[in-house]
Amino acid sequence: MTNPKHIVLVGFLQAQNCTTIPAAWRHPDARHDVTSASFYRHVGQTLERGKFDLGFFDDRLAMPDLYGGDHRHTVENGIRCVKLDPVTVLTAMGMSTERLGLGATYSTSYYEPFHVARVFATLDHMSEGRAAWNVVTSVNDNEAKNMGLAEAPAHDVRYDRADEFMEVVHGHWDSWEKDAIEANRATGRYADGEKVHRLDHEGKFYNSRGPFTVPRTPQGHPVVIQAGQSGRGVDFAARWGELLFMSNPSLAGAKANYLATKKAIADAGRDPNQVKIANLTFPVVGRTMAEAEDKRAAYDELPNLIDDLSLLSEGLNFDFSVKDLDTPLSDTDVQEMTGIQGIRNQVLEVTGKDNPTVRDFVNVSGRGRLAHPVVGGPVELADHFEEWFTGEACDGFVIAATHMPGAFEDFVDLVVPELQKRGLFRNEYQGTTLRHHLGIDLPERGSWRR
Ligand SMILES: Cc1cc2nc3c(=O)[nH]c(=O)nc-3n(C[C@H](O)[C@H](O)[C@H](O)COP(=O)(O)O)c2cc1C
Repeated sequence: MTNPKHIVLVGFLQAQNCTTIPAAWRHPDARHDVTSASFYRHVGQTLERGKFDLGFFDDRLAMPDLYGGDHRHTVENGIRCVKLDPVTVLTAMGMSTERLGLGATYSTSYYEPFHVARVFATLDHMSEGRAAWNVVTSVNDNEAKNMGLAEAPAHDVRYDRADEFMEVVHGHWDSWEKDAIEANRATGRYADGEKVHRLDHEGKFYNSRGPFTVPRTPQGHPVVIQAGQSGRGVDFAARWGELLFMSNPSLAGAKANYLATKKAIADAGRDPNQVKIANLTFPVVGRTMAEAEDKRAAYDELPNLIDDLSLLSEGLNFDFSVKDLDTPLSDTDVQEMTGIQGIRNQVLEVTGKDNPTVRDFVNVSGRGRLAHPVVGGPVELADHFEEWFTGEACDGFVIAATHMPGAFEDFVDLVVPELQKRGLFRNEYQGTTLRHHLGIDLPERGSWRR
């Protein structure tokens, strides 16, 4: 098993025309062949060269065109307007790597549980035990409109559905006992009928009969990733997640959330050591601090105000285009922001205002920009990671990129060797599965039914 003193490193990937920061495509070193397999092969091989635990793709089922209800600004400014199916892209990445874990985001609000269970179980077989699923409940009405609904279900209803969705998915993943297949020509029996179980799920939101058509996978089942930040989101993550993503800009906040989440996991009857927490981090790396600071300054020249407004609209499920930049928003406006609650709450908290302006949202959230980067040379970056990791603020980091693929190349070439030198990170992969890299056990059948 993995040395518990090793940090977990996750590459935060987008199968889109930019990173999470829209302006990334304008970066002088950004590649634009983002619809080609060779681009993702290169990214995967770079992360594997750096011995990352996994690369994972985020997802959204709509373009960010909520701002003004018009996609023209989105495509003209290149605001996350290209979005490929992440599992298909992962397959290309998996075929050009051997050890790197492979994660992708799929939504519980718009797919059927049988389908999602089958996609990720198949990926776990095809990658010989490297698959992970980032479970999201989705965010805005434009996704709903693409997927046959008028609007996104309410936040907590999304999580109620997601809980039942997970029961169905895990139930299907448990259908085949691991020694069910005999494939015995002499007896003429392919599999033991007593060892393949039908689910027969009839619930509030889902019915799914089974039997599932994918035998038990190399990892027992794919690793489950979750990133809920709200009260309901944390409960859900504590029940189901095996690798959790957090977004804490401050060390004190990260420590408090880390402790609270590990406690929530224990309260849910699970072993907190079996669940890893990785904090979202934007590194800007140079060979020296001065070089990194120059890079950051140059990067800050790239974004436009429209990037912020567009991504705030899609993230909060609220159209900012009809609001004046400096007029306080009304109580109703603030209540109507039904997307990612963390963004809204952060703005209310930091400004101390019940009715912030649009400009407050832009300035405080940093959405659309390089917000809270960690800037430095290899030593400063490693100091940062060491302080957070040994200070129990997280078990590892979700490394986000300023631009692709250069940001990952810099990280792997400059920061990883420094972490290895300090004994904080592996020099080589010790196992072949993602569970092994993360140091989490193979799940027993039915262990999720507590
Ligand atoms: C590192 C990270 C990656 C995320 N990736 C996605 C994603 O790909 N798609 C998505 O809809 N939400 C994504 N989210 C948002 C979370 O799923 C979640 O909705 C958000 O943290 C708000 O929490 P809440 O749903 O409990 O309010 C991500 C969050 C983090 C921190």
